[in-house]
Amino acid sequence: MYYPDEIVEEVRARNDIVDVISSYVRLNKKGSNYFGLCPFHNEKTGSFSVTPSKQMFYCFGCHQGGNVITFIQKHENMSFTEAVRLLADRAGMTLPESDDSGVRERENRRAQLLAINKEAGKYYYAQLRSEAGARGMAYFKQRGLTDDTMRAFGLGFARSSRDETYRYLKSKGFSDDLLQESGLFNYRENQGMTDKFWNRVIFPIMDTGHRIIGFGGRVMGEGEPKYLNSPESIIFDKSRNLYGLNIAKSTKAKNIIICEGYMDVIALHQAGFDQAVASLGTAFTSGHANLIARYARENVRKDELTRYKDILLCYDSDGAGVDAAIRALSILRETGLRPKIINMRPYKDPDEFIKALGAQEFQKRIDEAENGFMYEIRILENEYDLRDPSGKSSFIKDVAARILRFEDPVERDNYVGQVAYRYDVSADSLGEVIKKQAIAGGDVRISQRPLSTRNDRNDISEASRLPQGRLLSWLCEDPGIYETVRTYISADDFADPLYRKVASILFEQIENGEANPADIISMFTEEEEQRRIAEAFHQNVGELESVAMKESALKDLMLNVKRSSLTRGDRDDNDFETIKRLRKQLEELEKATIRLGE
Ligand code: UTP
Ligand code: MN
Repeated sequence: MYYPDEIVEEVRARNDIVDVISSYVRLNKKGSNYFGLCPFHNEKTGSFSVTPSKQMFYCFGCHQGGNVITFIQKHENMSFTEAVRLLADRAGMTLPESDDSGVRERENRRAQLLAINKEAGKYYYAQLRSEAGARGMAYFKQRGLTDDTMRAFGLGFARSSRDETYRYLKSKGFSDDLLQESGLFNYRENQGMTDKFWNRVIFPIMDTGHRIIGFGGRVMGEGEPKYLNSPESIIFDKSRNLYGLNIAKSTKAKNIIICEGYMDVIALHQAGFDQAVASLGTAFTSGHANLIARYARENVRKDELTRYKDILLCYDSDGAGVDAAIRALSILRETGLRPKIINMRPYKDPDEFIKALGAQEFQKRIDEAENGFMYEIRILENEYDLRDPSGKSSFIKDVAARILRFEDPVERDNYVGQVAYRYDVSADSLGEVIKKQAIAGGDVRISQRPLSTRNDRNDISEASRLPQGRLLSWLCEDPGIYETVRTYISADDFADPLYRKVASILFEQIENGEANPADIISMFTEEEEQRRIAEAFHQNVGELESVAMKESALKDLMLNVKRSSLTRGDRDDNDFETIKRLRKQLEELEKATIRLGE
């Protein structure tokens, strides 16, 4: 983190969460909370809640949550620092840019690294157009690129040299330290700095502000590695940038095309499809999906359901491409998008397709793009023998489980209809299979959760986690119970490691006079941690009418927490002293009469 905690806390405190979120989402007051349509997934009923007393938001549908800073990070797809800055601006605060040396130092380094890339980009660009770059120019021409295309993408050439690029940048006054950090050079004790890119054509990689954040370099012809890429750095985060988005973000097209490679993007743009982007030599991530969602949003009116452009996946037709597409599909779906698949067969990728059949045929393939879910099912078919009745029924069960993951009943029905039609089963019996699975899965809500949130709780069971979160939530809402709680429960009793940390901060806050859950969230940087903390704090303690009911509920909760503390996985079974002490505390709690009345 690079703003001091006090500053972050002040920025947070000066931006009321209901105020801020209201400018993005229409909120309705229900009791002491606000509800609205979740901006992070597609829904028709409002599962998105904002709690003013805790200054937090949480979506009961997609389980995203956090404080006001988290919200801005997610909604604007910003880094923590960017979000803090936006909110500081909004509250009319001036952040101490200049007197915090840490902040200034990092900003400065970022600026310098961008400057290095810009100089290097200009250098490669000029070389491609010089005599030394004739081979590169011939290569691009042979791949069918026009001068305009080469200019639009800033393509360049790095000639065979040991350290010419290095010496050129050195002459521009950049320090060795920074040049090394830029990733453009290799450093070895006995050789000093040498150029990383040589005898390759160069693809500068830009962020949406057209700043060069890295490079890709391709061998001309055969050779390994085919593409060499800049390493990640403080300015180059591969999982949050997409090649071509700097141009595609202004497209007028009604869809966005995601493909695999540099040349695919370039060929598509040249053929008039300026809506194409690619993930960069890495697998598709949720960071990419969020970025896409941000630029694919069509409507700006906050009272409307979020509408997106069509998201079209156009991955290679080989086995690896299909696997990558299946993974990307599920990541996109979790972000609330409904991707489709463009079929490139019999060609390998869009570049080859366009070369062979041209733009018009490609447009046809766009128009015929297949629904991502139906595509997934079609691929799944290969794992079953559909001619065999029992094979087919296993397949249908598998499909049913997948349909169940959709939250929206109308969407589920649509898939039931389509699957029934395509695979010749009756919609009724398919519906029956789905219903059975929902019931077998227990809570319908749980069985419908998106995949990602289902698998990340393997260490400690959900059942033991719930009471821990509920106790934390209750303590926040009613710090008056703290006196009683601390008699029996210490922060160390929380079996879940994350909740344990939260408990120790919360207990300290209460002892110092005020619980501040939103501030606790800021102390955790991982998105997943923030989400889980918000989830805990949004647990409803329930309406407890009498003091006696409250007392008994609290006792149950504390017993629960204490019991899971005893069986905590990471406790050393040989630590007899601790176990003995905990057993004794548990016995005392079992016998205790809890008194909450004034
Ligand atoms: P492909 O191997 O499919 O290459 O890699 P391509 O895009 O068809 O490239 P051409 O047409 O042969 O020039 C797809 C993408 O994976 C990354 C690059 O981003 C590439 O565009 N990649 C591939 C690498 O980063 N390194 C490699 O060695 C290979
Ligand atoms: Mn290719």
